[in-house]
Amino acid sequence: MRKQDSKPNHNPSFGTPLYIPLPKENVGNKISVTVHYNTTPESEALVWLEPSQTLGKKKPFMFSQCQAIHARSLLPCQDTPEAKATYDASITCDDNELVVVMGALPKDSTSESRESKDQLTSTDSSNSNSSKKVFEFVQKIPISSYLIAISAGNLSSAKIGPRSYLFTEPEQLDAFAHEFEDTEAFIAAAESFLEPYAWDQYNLLIASPSYNFGGMENPNCTLCSASLLAGDKSLVSVVAHEISHSWSGNLVTNKVWSDFWLNEGFTVYLERRILSRIYGQEYADFMGILGRKSLDDSIDNFLENEKVPEFTKLRPDLNGVDPDDSFSSIPYEKGFNFLYYLTQVVGGFENFESFLKNYFKEFAYKTVTTDDFKNYFLSQFENKVDQVELDKIDWDAWLYGVGKIPVENNFDRTLADRVEIAAQSWISGHSQEKDESWQAMQYVYLLQKLQQKKDWTIEEIEKIDQVYEFTKSKNSEISFAWQILCIQSDYKNIFPLVSEFLSRTGRMKYVRPLYRALLKSKEGRTVAEETLEKNKYFYMTTTYKLLIKDFRNATA
Ligand code: BES
Ligand code: ZN
Repeated sequence: MRKQDSKPNHNPSFGTPLYIPLPKENVGNKISVTVHYNTTPESEALVWLEPSQTLGKKKPFMFSQCQAIHARSLLPCQDTPEAKATYDASITCDDNELVVVMGALPKDSTSESRESKDQLTSTDSSNSNSSKKVFEFVQKIPISSYLIAISAGNLSSAKIGPRSYLFTEPEQLDAFAHEFEDTEAFIAAAESFLEPYAWDQYNLLIASPSYNFGGMENPNCTLCSASLLAGDKSLVSVVAHEISHSWSGNLVTNKVWSDFWLNEGFTVYLERRILSRIYGQEYADFMGILGRKSLDDSIDNFLENEKVPEFTKLRPDLNGVDPDDSFSSIPYEKGFNFLYYLTQVVGGFENFESFLKNYFKEFAYKTVTTDDFKNYFLSQFENKVDQVELDKIDWDAWLYGVGKIPVENNFDRTLADRVEIAAQSWISGHSQEKDESWQAMQYVYLLQKLQQKKDWTIEEIEKIDQVYEFTKSKNSEISFAWQILCIQSDYKNIFPLVSEFLSRTGRMKYVRPLYRALLKSKEGRTVAEETLEKNKYFYMTTTYKLLIKDFRNATA
C-alpha cells in the first residue's frame, strides 16, 4: 500500500516539522544535538528491490534519490539547499556480501592512498554476528542535503578512468564500463576551461530500471539510469551533464528551488561546452536545437494542460509548491538559451567561459540567487563590453517572462538541416533511403520533425519503420520519439511495444509524455490504465504520484 500520513501538522509534500527548542542560556554558544530516529518503509527517497527485481536475482538492491526535497524522508535535516554540511557515515549492512556506496568517499581513501587501496573499504564487524559488515564514508566538502545518497546491492566495480569507478551488478558491468569509457575525457574537457575538479573521485552507479531520472549528480557517485545503455555511446551526454554539476550545482548551488535554473541551465551550458570539445561545435549546437522540442513541449504542457503559467518562467515563484510538481525542461533549456544569448552579448564562448571560471571560483562552496548571478555578471563585464549592449539585455523578459524565450539564438544548423530535408520529403509523401552517415541523435531529430504530422497512415508508418527500423532500436530516445509518433497517428499496432517500454523504464522523461499521449489518443486510454495498474509498484513513489495527477488532468 502507498500510505497517506495523517499526523497533525503534516504536509504531504513537505512532511512534519521537527522543532528543537534550544536552551536560552546557550545563546551565542555552540551546542551539539543528537537526534535518534527511525525511517519507515514509506520513505520516498528510497527504492527497495527484491532479489527477483535485479539482474542477478540473488541479492536485494536499494538506492536513494533525494533531490529535490526527499532527503527529509531519509534523515532529519534542514532540507534546503541553503544549508550545506560535511558528513561522516557509518553504515552497517546485515549481509556481508552486499556492497554499500554513498555520495561520499570511503573513509580511508585519500588521494595519496587511492591507488594502492581497494575502492570498497569495509570491515567485517567484530561483534557477535559475523555476517554484518560496516562501511565508513566521509564527505569532506560541504554539500546541500539533496546531494546525500546511498545505495547497496550486489555491486561490482570497474575502474573506468584514473579517478573513476563504475558500480553495478556484475551482469552488466562490462557493457556499462564500455559505454562510459569517455568519462575521463569529459572531466578533462571541463577542466580545460574551469578550475580543477574539486571532488577527488568521479564515480558512477547504475540505478534500477525504475529510476525516474536519466542521471543524478550525487557527489563522488553519479546515479545513472539503466536506459543510458544504447550500445553505441549515443546517450553519454547525460554523463557530461552530471560531470558538469561538479561545478554548477554541487559547488555553486541554487539557494532556493526557484533558482533551479542556476543549477540546471548552467549545467546544460557546461555539458554542451564539453560536447563541443569532444564532438565539435556543430554537434553541441545540434543538441541545443534538439533540446528545443522539450522546451516547447514543457511550455505547452504548463500553459494548455496543467494551466500553471508561473512554471514557464525561468525564475518561478514556488512558494508552497512541491518542486516535483514544477519540474520540467524549462530551467534546463530556457536557462541554456539565456546563457547562450549572453555569450553572444559578451563576444563569444571564450569570454563567457572565462567569466564562468571566475563565477565558479567566486561562489564555490556557497549558494547563489538569480540576483547574485545578474550582479556578478554585470560587474564582470561592465568595463569589457559596450554598455549599450549590456543595457539591451531584457533581464525581466528572460527571467520572469511567461512562455517562450524572448530572443532566438543562431545555432549551427549543419547536422539539423540534413535531417530537415529528409523530414520534408517524408511529410510530402516521398519515401527516403536511410542515410548511414547520420548519428543516433539525428534520428531523434527526424522523429521530432515527423511528429509534426499527426495523421500518418498505417502504410506510411510501416514504410518509415521498414527504412529506419525504429521499432527495433536499442536507443531509448529513439524508441520514445517513435512511440509518440505512432500513438499520435493512432497506430494501434504499437500499443504492445509502448506497454512493454513503460513496464521496463521508470524514467519520467519518457513515461509521463507516453501516458499523456495514450490518454489523448482515440483508443489508448485502456492501454494506459492497464499498464499503469500493472506497474503501480514498479514506478517510484514520486513518479506514480505525478502520473496520477496527469491521468486526472487528462480527464478534466
Ligand atoms: N539533478 C538532475 C536530476 C533531478 C532534478 C532530480 C530535479 C530531481 C529533481 C540531473 O542532473 C538531471 O538534470 N538529469 C537529466 C539529465 C539530462 C538533462 C542530460 C535527466 O534526468 O534527464
Ligand atoms: Zn542536471
